[in-house]
This record gives sequence, structure tokens and C-alpha cells, in this order.
Amino acid sequence: AAFDTVIRNGTVATASDTFKADVAIRQGRIAAIGEAITDADEIVDASGLLVLPGGIDSHVHISQPSGPGIVMADDFESATRAAAFGGNTFVMPYCLQEKGQPLRAALKDYHALAEQACYVDHSFHLIIADPSDSVLGQELPALVADGYSSLKIFMTYQDLALSDYEILGVLQVARETGALVQIHAENYDAIRFLTDRLERAGKIAPYYHGKSRPIAVEREATHRAISLAELIDVPIVIVHVSNREAMEEIRRAQTRGLKIHGETCPQYLVLTEEDMQGLNMEGAKYVCSPPPRDKASQEACWEGLQQGVFSLFSSDHCPFRYDDEAGKLTPKGRTSFRWVPNGIPGVETRLPILFSEGVGKGRISLNQFVAFTATNHAKTYGLKGKGSIAIGYDADIALWDPNKTAKISQSGLHHGSDYTPYEGIEITGWPVATMLRGKFVVRDGQLVGAKGSGRYVTRGKPGAVA
Ligand code: URP
Ligand code: ZN
Ligand code: ZN
Ligand code: ZN
Repeated sequence: AAFDTVIRNGTVATASDTFKADVAIRQGRIAAIGEAITDADEIVDASGLLVLPGGIDSHVHISQPSGPGIVMADDFESATRAAAFGGNTFVMPYCLQEKGQPLRAALKDYHALAEQACYVDHSFHLIIADPSDSVLGQELPALVADGYSSLKIFMTYQDLALSDYEILGVLQVARETGALVQIHAENYDAIRFLTDRLERAGKIAPYYHGKSRPIAVEREATHRAISLAELIDVPIVIVHVSNREAMEEIRRAQTRGLKIHGETCPQYLVLTEEDMQGLNMEGAKYVCSPPPRDKASQEACWEGLQQGVFSLFSSDHCPFRYDDEAGKLTPKGRTSFRWVPNGIPGVETRLPILFSEGVGKGRISLNQFVAFTATNHAKTYGLKGKGSIAIGYDADIALWDPNKTAKISQSGLHHGSDYTPYEGIEITGWPVATMLRGKFVVRDGQLVGAKGSGRYVTRGKPGAVA
């Protein structure tokens, strides 16, 4: 036959168009898009389904050390399995540099963990914890040239927070090498001060996590990060934006012509700080940074998506178990919110939440959905030949039933956490199959892909989002 597989009678959606077409696949790539294509070894009927580029999640944490006694709930196998069930074909986890560690040594560890373990393709962002002279002068430029073209740096967290001087040094290297820097924008000293004061007042429940890092903490750091990027004249990504004030800082910079990308996440659309209230430690299930805010902040994040201030919608999947001292319940004696590991699982529920709440409720178009969940991630981070339904592109495809209703529940998910912060949310629209380079990974609710079929992919220079 002319083709290996043809997906027939579906409705294809890209970041720009929606149209009825058959999609033919040869040797893992999209080889033809047309009418009435039948000459294929396998014919997949997609009547009534959307044919979408597989989701690309450019912000996930997998197997990352998270403090003494704390263990992440997902390894590369379980995280990428959950990703595939959620309609994703690519994830970009982090490679965390420990202080004093050469970057290549860190990468070797993460590659070893990912090798032969993944159900979807992957690449790594480098977290720069120690921007020493040799890291900035030699290691980083060599790695960017090798396809590790994106970094994350932090303005908060002990052991990770960089000074403004250090941030400028990293941004300078990014400018010289063409790398793209993600910035976690929260003011470290402000959080430390507020945390100490809350603890002295006996306010140690998970709920006070939100009070230890209010909106001003994020808005100030966002403004400062943008200012530092402006000084160096280099693009950056402000990740996980939670509220209007930070969103407006990004909008203002964009209006002034600065290349500031904005990212938001499901937790800022559907959770609030009230979720961190709850009996005993229950609130810990929602502890992440920045924290979920309020209804008005949710509206602001929707506005950021609708108006293009945000171009990226990622999960910030950072899974811990709840009922576990290596997770949210924290090692014995550590009773304050200070010790609750930050982060929540979400790699499997990102697409259904945005589809149902966004496309289903008329807040964004189907084409915006595709852009926010796949196309823009590929363009922003220099991932070639993925993120769209186009001839020559990898056949990374999610078959999506726009009418399938489901209630999010832990029992139906495939991650390593023992809970989902999105429990009970009613969803319309769910992926029914996920195909990686022309081969089904998930089909009819069953895992059919082989562990290890997900590959490491080198990325090129980050580009602009059209
Ligand atoms: O709370 C969060 N978001 N944990 C993950 C690490 C990060 O800062 O993205
Ligand atoms: Zn690898
Ligand atoms: Zn972060
Ligand atoms: Zn994160």
C-alpha cells in the first residue's frame, strides 16, 4: 500500500484551521492530507473525532530531587504513561543541576532515568542552580550548541534562588547563544520574611502557604525579571503566571515591544486558595507555587490566554503522593507549610481541562486550544517537525472525542500520585487515542505502546511564536 496508516473521516484542527480530511502516515510521518485516501495497510475510522497534534507539555517535573526525605511520585515511565493517556506525545521535563555539579553530569543522570522508560518523546530544560564561571563560560554554550536550548532559573527557593547579578549573567549567555530562559518569578526574601512571621504567629497550616507568597510577591519578581531581560535585550518566558497583576506586567512589556513569553497552567484556571483550606493536612494537596489565587485571578488568566498575553499552557506537573511522609504529609516533626513539597500532578488532565473549560464553554477557539497545548510549545522551544498536522511532520496525533463526558477522578488516572487536585471536575471532551510517530500508544482506553518507544529529541534554536 502507498501508506502505512490512514486516519479517515476525522476533523483536523491546527493552530490556524479546522477542516475535514484524511491523514495518511508513512514511516512515522504525515505523508498526505487529502480526500478519500484509502490505499493504506491500516485504516483508522475517526468519524466524529477531532484529529489534533499530540499535546506538547513544556513544563513537567519528573524524578527531580525535592528536598531531604521527599520523593516525587512519578518516574519517567509513569509520568509519560499518564501524559500519553492525556493526549500528549511530547514532554519537556527538567534536568536539575545540583550546586557545584557540572551540567553534563546532571544530564547523564536524567538521560539514564529516561532511557528505555518513556512512552512519549522528550527533551530537557536545564535548571541552572549554580551559574559559576565555568558553567556560564564553557558548559552552557557547548550544551546549547548540542540542542539543550532552554534553561530555567529561579528567583526563589533556598538552593535555587539566583541573585539579580547571577540572573543577568545567565541572560547574557542566553543572548550570546540563542538559548531561551524560563524564569520562576517570586521574591525569595519576601517569602522568607512572611513565612517566618506566619510561623511565629502559629499560622502553619497548608492554607498559609498562599499567605506566604501573595500576589505582590509574584508581581514584583515578574516586573524585575522583565527589567533584567530588557537590560540584556533577550527574550524570556515567565512561567506559571497565576494572577492579573503579573499578567499585566507581561502585557505591558509586550506592548513596549519586548519579547516576553507568558505561560499559565490549569491550577490557575480552576483552583483557588480556598482549596488549600481543609481538615488536617488536606490543603497540602493543592500546595504549589505560585499558589492558586481567587476567582478574579482565574478570569485574568483566561483573559491572558484569550488576548494572547500567554502563548503557552503547560501543566507544571510536579507530582507528590499525599498520604505519604515522602510526599505531602512531610517527614515527622515538620508540621509547618514550609516543609510541604511544592507542586501538584496535572500532566494527564491539562488538555481535558482546557478543552472543556475553554473550547467547550466558548472562551477560546479550537485553534487557540491547539496553539496553546502543542504548536506554540514546539515553536517557542525550537522543536522541529512536531506540534502540527502538516506534511512531513511526525505523526504525533491525539484522536479526540469532543462529546465524551467524564468526571476527573483519581481512579481513572495513570500518574504515580495517590490523588488529583482536580477530583470531581466535570469534563466534556476527552482523548480516545494517542499516536506517537504513527504508532498507537493509547487506543480505546488501553496502553498499547511499548515502554521505551518514547525518544529523546534534540531541539534547535528557540523561535518566535507567529
Ligand atoms: O510548586 C511548583 N510549581 N513546583 C514545581 C516547581 C516549579 O517551581 O515549577
Ligand atoms: Zn535520553
Ligand atoms: Zn517554577
Ligand atoms: Zn514547575
